[in-house]
Amino acid sequence: MVCSSDSCALLLDFQHKFCTVAELKCFSWEDLIDHLVDLDDLSCKDHIDKLLSSTVDHPIVRKYPLKPTFRKGFLKQFLNSVEERGLTHDSAYERLVSLLAEPDTDRELHYRHFPIKNRFITIQESRNFLAHGTTGLHAWQAGIALANWGIRNKEHFHFKRVFELGSGLGLTGLALIFSDTPPLSYTFSDCHPDVLQLLKKNIILNSTSDGEDVPKRVNKTNVQVLDFDWSEEGGPRLSKLFQPDLIIAADVVYDFDSIPQLCTTIKTLITTTKAYSLVACTVRNEETLDNFLESLGGSGLEVSEDEEEDEEERDPKGKDTFWHSKELPVKIFKITLVSENSII
Ligand SMILES: C[S@@+](CC[C@H](N)C(=O)[O-])C[C@H]1O[C@@H](n2cnc3c(N)ncnc32)[C@H](O)[C@@H]1O
Repeated sequence: MVCSSDSCALLLDFQHKFCTVAELKCFSWEDLIDHLVDLDDLSCKDHIDKLLSSTVDHPIVRKYPLKPTFRKGFLKQFLNSVEERGLTHDSAYERLVSLLAEPDTDRELHYRHFPIKNRFITIQESRNFLAHGTTGLHAWQAGIALANWGIRNKEHFHFKRVFELGSGLGLTGLALIFSDTPPLSYTFSDCHPDVLQLLKKNIILNSTSDGEDVPKRVNKTNVQVLDFDWSEEGGPRLSKLFQPDLIIAADVVYDFDSIPQLCTTIKTLITTTKAYSLVACTVRNEETLDNFLESLGGSGLEVSEDEEEDEEERDPKGKDTFWHSKELPVKIFKITLVSENSII
């Protein structure tokens, strides 16, 4: 069978999932091994070499390492799979064994790399979903889903002024900034000092700036980072500072107690700036989500859920840019002011 390792779709899929640290069960192990078995010896070795050089040995992974336990788990799974099918290539095997011998203690922070066009967006994050009393030191599923959605639905973002609440590590914003249709300006915000610090670090890491301050411009977008706590300020200060076209947020609906303040902030920002809002929610608890939607609906806002077809049914251009787990659904809501006509 003829297949060039440089353009092999399976290898590309493995690289993408590896660099974003996807769960090991989400890799197509059987398909990969079936493919390798079908190749002649030389081509099979070439594919294995390519797999290693585009994952564990990729220069960006060497410079900014992934979680060691993940890398080791990936190699063990690969080694077991090739051994089971009797595929032995000495040089690749030796490389695998030497990589497996490296220490595997996870540090508190590690990197993930999200491929977009001809580059990666690199995010440094905590190994824990909850660290230093915040959820914000980890890149969450709804943030990735909102980035994918925004890249597909570019008319919402292209050349627009975007304000993000609870930005966490900044992946959604960076993805939009490095898309083909970047926003005019992007304001990241969060309230937790450790999150703000890592968010700034991630923006600098992905820009061409080598200074210690967040650059004013990244790619073609004007950028700023705000220390903004929606539970304290409710929004009036912001609407005096700037006029966004769009207010977005991802994975900020999880704490029942903070929902009223979050809704008040969204409402104040929408009323005072005439912007609209897009909020991406991972559906973990229906009750929490219902509470959020009821609070918004009862405050003079109109909420509609985006009804996109599933990824498998979309044409190739509509496929997700970034992989994320699909175990829990993510819903995207558009929030606007109730128009005068609909009140009558
Ligand atoms: C689950 S994380 C989601 C982070 C990011 N949007 C993502 O999708 O990866 C929730 C974020 O909301 C921030 N947050 C929580 N309460 C907040 C508040 N009152 N004001 C501003 N940000 C808040 C947290 O610091 C955290 O970064």
